[in-house]
Amino acid sequence: MYRSLLTLGIAAVACALPNGFDYTSHTSGCREVQIPVQVSVPRFILNTTIENDWDATALTLALTRRDSGTSSDPLPVAGSTSKAVKSSYTIGATLCGTGRTTLVLTHGIIESKKYWDPDFLGGDKYSFVKAALAAGYSVLSYDRIGVGTSSKVNSSTDAQFQVQGAVLDELVSYARKTMKAEKVALFGHSYGSYISALSASQTEVDALILTGYSGSFANFAPFVAGTGFRIARLQQPYRWGDLDSGYITSSDLFAETYVYFAAPHFSHDVAEWTYNVASQPFAIGELPTVLETTIDYSKIKAPVLLLQGQFDVSACGGDCVGLINTTATLFNNSKRVQYVDDLPAGHDLNLHYIAPKAFQMVFDFLKKERV
Ligand SMILES: *[C@@H]1O[C@H](CO)[C@@H](O)[C@H](O)[C@H]1NC(C)=O
Ligand SMILES: *[C@@H]1O[C@H](CO)[C@@H](O)[C@H](O)[C@H]1NC(C)=O
Ligand SMILES: *[C@@H]1O[C@H](CO)[C@@H](O)[C@H](O)[C@H]1NC(C)=O
Ligand SMILES: *[C@@H]1O[C@H](CO)[C@@H](O)[C@H](O)[C@H]1NC(C)=O
Repeated sequence: MYRSLLTLGIAAVACALPNGFDYTSHTSGCREVQIPVQVSVPRFILNTTIENDWDATALTLALTRRDSGTSSDPLPVAGSTSKAVKSSYTIGATLCGTGRTTLVLTHGIIESKKYWDPDFLGGDKYSFVKAALAAGYSVLSYDRIGVGTSSKVNSSTDAQFQVQGAVLDELVSYARKTMKAEKVALFGHSYGSYISALSASQTEVDALILTGYSGSFANFAPFVAGTGFRIARLQQPYRWGDLDSGYITSSDLFAETYVYFAAPHFSHDVAEWTYNVASQPFAIGELPTVLETTIDYSKIKAPVLLLQGQFDVSACGGDCVGLINTTATLFNNSKRVQYVDDLPAGHDLNLHYIAPKAFQMVFDFLKKERV
C-alpha cells in the first residue's frame, strides 16, 4: 500500500548528557529515572493538523485508501527541513540491574513502557522485565517521547520516527556509559520494532529482537481503520486533557482488542488492563514519518530474532505464516537471522498466554548468540 516516497538522510548528531539522571523510586531491583537526552536530526514537515474526531476520521480514510501513499493520495508530508534540528528531551525510564548485557526495550503505539512490566495482580507471567531479571539480564525500559513519563512534545514537529530513533541511539549510549553494559540488545514491539531496527542500522548493538513487526506496511489498513482513531484529549480528558489535539488513541476497548489481541489466546482482564491502564496516545507525526523513512537494513550487523504472534493484524493482516520468511531477507548483512511466525497470539505478543514461552525463546536466542 505504501511506497517510500523519499529517503531522509538521517544524520544523527546526538550526545547523552553525563550524570544527568536522578533516581525517584525503587521497586524490586528496579528504579525509575529521568534521563536527559539531546538529539539533532532533520524533521519532516507535516501539512495536516487534526483538531477533532471529524479530522481524525478524514485522516483514517487518507491512510487506508487503496491508493494511499501514491501521488493521488500523498502522505501528509510536504518535505523536510534542510538542516538538523536540535532538541532536548527527558526520557522516563525504568532501570533494572547494571553491567552485563542490558536489554533496551521500546514499546509500540497506543502503548507505554508498562507493556513490558504489567502491574496488575497476577501480571508477573506477562512481565518481560521480571523474566529478563530472573534470566540474569539488566533492563532499560522507557516511554517514547510524547508518552507517559517522558517529555510531552509537539505532536507534529517532535514526535517523528527519526527523532525517536535518535533518542534510542542516546539510550544505547547511556546503557553502555552509565549502566556499564558490556553488551546491548534492542528489543522492540510494533512501532518500537521499527525504531529499534532504525537505531541498529545507525549505532552498534549486539542483538536485535523484533516483535509485532513484518517490515512491511502492506497489511496496515485493517489496523488503522480498526483502531478507530479518536483525539485523545477529547476521548479521555481526565487522562489526556493536557496533550495537544494531535495525540490519537483508539475508539474503545473492543476496537483496541481487535488490533492487539487474538481470541482465544488471551484473558479479557489483560485486554481491559491494556486499554484502561497501559495504553497511551501516539502523535500524528509518528506514522507518516515512519512511512517516509527507508531503513537501511543492510547496515545491521547484529544477529536478529523475529518473533511473531501468528494472528497479528497490523504486521500481517491477521496471518503471519508465510510472510516472516520474507521479512528475514531484509537483514542481508546480519550475522544470523532467526524467525518464528506462528506463536498463538495477536499483536501484543507479551500479553497473551504464550508470553512465558516467547520470553524463553528470546533468552535461548541471546544465549546462542552469546549475548
Ligand atoms: C502535502 O504536501 C504534499 C507534498 O507537497 C502534497 O502532495 C499534498 O497534497 C499536501 N497535502 C495537503 C493536505 O496539503
Ligand atoms: C507545534 O509546532 C508547530 C511549528 O512550530 C506549531 O505551528 C504548532 O502550533 C505546535 N503545536 C502545538 C500544539 O504547540
Ligand atoms: C543487501 O540489500 C541492499 C538493499 O537491497 C543491497 O543494496 C545490498 O547489496 C545487499 N547486500 C548484500 C550483502 O546482499
Ligand atoms: C515464504 O513462504 C511463502 C509461503 O510458503 C513462499 O511463497 C515464499 O516464496 C517464501 N519467501 C521466501 C523469501 O522464501
